[in-house]
Amino acid sequence: MADDTKKRRLQPVGRRTFLRYSLFGATSAGLGGFGLAALAQLWPRPGDELTGEVAIGVAAEIAAEIQSERTPRRVPEGGLSIVVWDPSDSTAERNYGESHAIGDGFGLQALFTQSCPHLGCAVPWCQSSQWFECPCHGSRYNRYGEWTGGPAPRGLDRFESFVDDDGLFVVNFSNLITGPARTANALDQSPEGPACV
Ligand code: FES
Repeated sequence: MADDTKKRRLQPVGRRTFLRYSLFGATSAGLGGFGLAALAQLWPRPGDELTGEVAIGVAAEIAAEIQSERTPRRVPEGGLSIVVWDPSDSTAERNYGESHAIGDGFGLQALFTQSCPHLGCAVPWCQSSQWFECPCHGSRYNRYGEWTGGPAPRGLDRFESFVDDDGLFVVNFSNLITGPARTANALDQSPEGPACV
């Protein structure tokens, strides 16, 4: 289990950081395709300034919120989308059990949706399809961040995470895990409605 002395609580986003991200978002909205992807690689991105273990919040509360709203919990300052997975599913447990958080009857994953594995665009959640869909070149990922289509070479990268002794969901921003291969499909989740992209 992690050393509590190294763990930090998530702090509110500072004004300067907020303004920088807002400017990035406004600039990105006016650019398309490769231009946006190139800019995304050059500009300091959310997640770049977080290191080490950061406690995001009470794991059970985060899982309940995600399940009731059917929407990932966004952590903009970490470039994350937190999703729920089912550790009682043997296929999912085999694929994700080692490096992703497991609580009492639920699992959580910290997907790095700020950077598409293709060319680095941010990958938003699509509520209607219940997938992540990249607006730059159309790569798509299911609810686990597994690749389902498009030019991306793999699934979404994700940070190591765990539930600590106090029930907090902790993300280790010093350990970015390469996304699963295209052939990984633990969830086998079909789109649940119209695509957003
Ligand atoms: S950056 Fe090209 S598909 Fe996402």
